[in-house]
Amino acid sequence: MNRSELLASLAACVGERHVLTAPTDIAPYAVDWRRKYVGQAAAVVSPGSTAEVAAVLQLATAHRIPVVTQGGNTGMSGGATPDGTGTQIVLSTRRLNRIRQTDALNDTIEVEAGAVLEAVQVAASEVGRLFPLALAAQGSCTIGGNLATNAGGTAVLRYGNARDLTLGLEVVTPDGRIWNGLRGLRKDNTGYDLKQLYIGSEGTLGVITAAVLKLFPPPAARRTAMLTLPSIDNAVQLLNRVRADLGPALTAFEVISAACVPVLQRHFPEMRWPFETLVPVVALIEMSDHESEQHARDTLSFVLEQALEDEIATDGVIGESVAQSRALWALREHLSEAQAKEGPHIKHDISVPISRVAAFVDAAVKHVQLGFPGARMAWFGHLGDGNLHFNVLAPVGTDALAFCAGQGDVNRLVHDLVHAHSGSISAEHGLGQLRRDENARYKDGVELALMQGLKQALDPLGLMNPGKVLRPLSAG
Ligand code: FAD
Ligand code: MLT
Ligand code: ZN
Repeated sequence: MNRSELLASLAACVGERHVLTAPTDIAPYAVDWRRKYVGQAAAVVSPGSTAEVAAVLQLATAHRIPVVTQGGNTGMSGGATPDGTGTQIVLSTRRLNRIRQTDALNDTIEVEAGAVLEAVQVAASEVGRLFPLALAAQGSCTIGGNLATNAGGTAVLRYGNARDLTLGLEVVTPDGRIWNGLRGLRKDNTGYDLKQLYIGSEGTLGVITAAVLKLFPPPAARRTAMLTLPSIDNAVQLLNRVRADLGPALTAFEVISAACVPVLQRHFPEMRWPFETLVPVVALIEMSDHESEQHARDTLSFVLEQALEDEIATDGVIGESVAQSRALWALREHLSEAQAKEGPHIKHDISVPISRVAAFVDAAVKHVQLGFPGARMAWFGHLGDGNLHFNVLAPVGTDALAFCAGQGDVNRLVHDLVHAHSGSISAEHGLGQLRRDENARYKDGVELALMQGLKQALDPLGLMNPGKVLRPLSAG
C-alpha cells in the first residue's frame, strides 16, 4: 500500500478531516514534551469512536503499519513519539473525550480515553465526588495516557496510582477487536485480570479507549503546610510521624531540595517563596479533613508545633486559606517547568523503599558531586511514595548541552545506586524509549522474558508502539 492509498483508507475509517498529512500539522505530534525526541509520522489519525479505533487497527494489521497511540503528549519518556522512519502512524485520542456516565451510588465514572484528567476531576465534582488522581500536567494529559503509563502524581500516598483507581477498561486489540471490560466492580475473580496488563503497557499491547474509574467522597476541608528541614533524614522522620498522627487524612507528602529554589525563582519570579533562608529540604504536606476547616487547621498546627519543638523542622507555614494553599502547591507544581526553562538537564524518576531514601540521597549526592563537580542536584518529588525526581543540572554558567553529553554516565551512576538500594529506575513516568535499555540492564531476566512472551501473545505482529518498553524481538 503506498502512502496515498494509506491516507485514503485512513480517511475512509475516520473522515478526511481527521487525518493530518501536512508536515507542519504532523510536527507537534512527532516531538515529545521535553523536546528530547523528534520523529516523523506517515499521518496523524484521530478516531471519534471506539468503532473507528477498531477500523484503524484492522487496517494497520492488514497492511503491517506500526501505530503509536498518543493522548496529551505530556509523557516524560518519549513513549508517544513515533520513530524517525516516517512509516508509523500516530493515533491521537483527542476526539475520544466524552464523559460517558457517572454513577454516584457506585462511586464510579466511565470516561473515554482522550478525556483530559482535569475534565474528569470536574465531572466528578459535579456529582459531589472526588477523582483524586492529580499531577501538574492535569490540564492536558489524558486518562488513556494516565492509565497507559500508570501515572502517579501527588495523591498516591492516600489514593494510590492510576492502576489503583481503575475498575474497568475498554481496549481495542491490535487486530481491531473490541474488548469491553467496562465493569464497575470492586470484586471480580472471574479469571485473569486483563486490565492490569494494559495499565502501564505504554501503548505496546493495544489501545485503551475507555475506563471505569473509582470516585471518593470529597473531604470537608483541605489544608497545606510547608516546613523547612535540615536534611532528607529529617524529612523521612517527619513523614513517619505525620503518617502516624494523621492516618488516612494525610493526602500528600512532597519534598523540594534547596537547588530547586533559585531555578524556580529565576523562571517564575512572580511566585513568592515563603522562606528567607535557603534550607536543604522543604516538605509540602497536605491533609484532607472530613470534619471541618477548623479541625484541619488545628491538626496541622499541632503537627507543625511538635515538629518544631522536637527540632525535626526549623520553620513552617500553614496555608490559611484555599488561595494560600493553592499558592504553596503552585511552587511545587512549577518545578518541572522551571527546570525545563533552565535548559537541558538529566532527569531521573526513581523509587526506593522509604526506609532507604535518606541513605540513597546522601550517597547519590556524594557520588554525583565527586564525578561531576559543581553539578546541581535539584531533586524533588513524592517522598510519601519513596519516589524522587533526582534531577541533575549543569553547573551554573556552564554549557548545559555539553554537560548533558555525559548523561549516560550520570544515569548509570544514579541508577546503579538505585539498584543497590532495591529501587526502581522508573517509578511513575514509564520506560518509553528513554529507559528501555537501562531497564533491561537491571530487570530480572525471567521477568523480561515473561514480558516478551506477553507482548508476543497480545501483539504478535509487533505493530503497537514498536521499540518502546521492550526491544523488538527481531532486534535481539
Ligand atoms: P502521552 O504522553 O500522550 O502518552 C504516554 C504513553 O501512553 C505513550 O507510550 C503512549 O503511547 C501511551 N498512550 C497514551 N494514550 C493511550 C491510550 N489511550 N491507549 C494506549 N496507550 C496510550 N507523571 C506522573 O506519573 N506523575 C506526575 O506527577 C507527573 N507530573 C508531570 C508534570 C508535568 C509538568 C508534565 C509535563 C508531565 C508530568 N507527568 C507526570 C508525566 C505525564 O503527564 C504522565 O505520564 C501522563 O500520564 C501522560 O498522559 P498523556 O495523555 O499526556 O500521555
Ligand atoms: C512531577 O512530579 O512534577 C513530575 O513527575 C514531573 C517531573 O518529574 O518533571
Ligand atoms: Zn512526579
